[in-house]
Amino acid sequence: MSATGRSCSAVVESVNRPATLNPGGGPGKVYRHATGKGKGSHVTEVTTAHGEEVMPSVFDVLSRDHQEVKHLLSELESGPAASAGASPEQLAQRKKAAQVLVIEESRHEAAEQMYFWPAVRERLPDGSHLADQAISQEQEGKEVLDKLDQADAGDGQFESLLGEFIAAGRDHIAYEENQVWPKMRAALSKAEADELGSKIEQAKKTAPTRPHPKAPSSPGAQKSTGPAVAAADKARDAATGRGR
Ligand SMILES: [Fe+2]
Ligand SMILES: [Fe+2]
Repeated sequence: MSATGRSCSAVVESVNRPATLNPGGGPGKVYRHATGKGKGSHVTEVTTAHGEEVMPSVFDVLSRDHQEVKHLLSELESGPAASAGASPEQLAQRKKAAQVLVIEESRHEAAEQMYFWPAVRERLPDGSHLADQAISQEQEGKEVLDKLDQADAGDGQFESLLGEFIAAGRDHIAYEENQVWPKMRAALSKAEADELGSKIEQAKKTAPTRPHPKAPSSPGAQKSTGPAVAAADKARDAATGRGR
């Protein structure tokens, strides 16, 4: 998904690889292929120097989503808003970027709630507290995004909702990356981090594209009803052209 066209670049990182991925043993080079530059860049795949694909870890998968969301927030923050005299075409683009934000956030948070937060609860001594805090932030975010999704870019309410989400969304990402990820990086083996990343990538494919703030956020409820809700969301998206 991309709201704007982007060029490709590759970021090279030295890490310790397991023998199967780095036959020579010791540190190997892993290429994290990113699209765009600066704030808009995000990892799309991870490969070795020989071009072999490496399974992205949960942190690669979640980080890619966070970069995408941060880029959209910056794009939306830079306007132009209706109050600044935006043209109808610019407002239509603004609405489209907001729809992409809502779709990406909805899929990301649903996947985290199905797999990441249960793992945090299970693996960290203070995991339940950390997960409760995060899910409460996500619930508040869903309520704002639900209203934003229903507002037109020319409505006065659109900008106040957007401003509210920009601040809350950045705080939520910082909370996850600074308060939770370091502890989870220490708690998970590489194989566990990869497996969790794979589950989250799969879950995103069948996750709802709308916030559904009134739906239960428990992992079990989301796993059982999520795919049907997502199918209904996608049918509505296809019929209305939402997010395109
Ligand atoms: Fe989250
Ligand atoms: Fe997240």
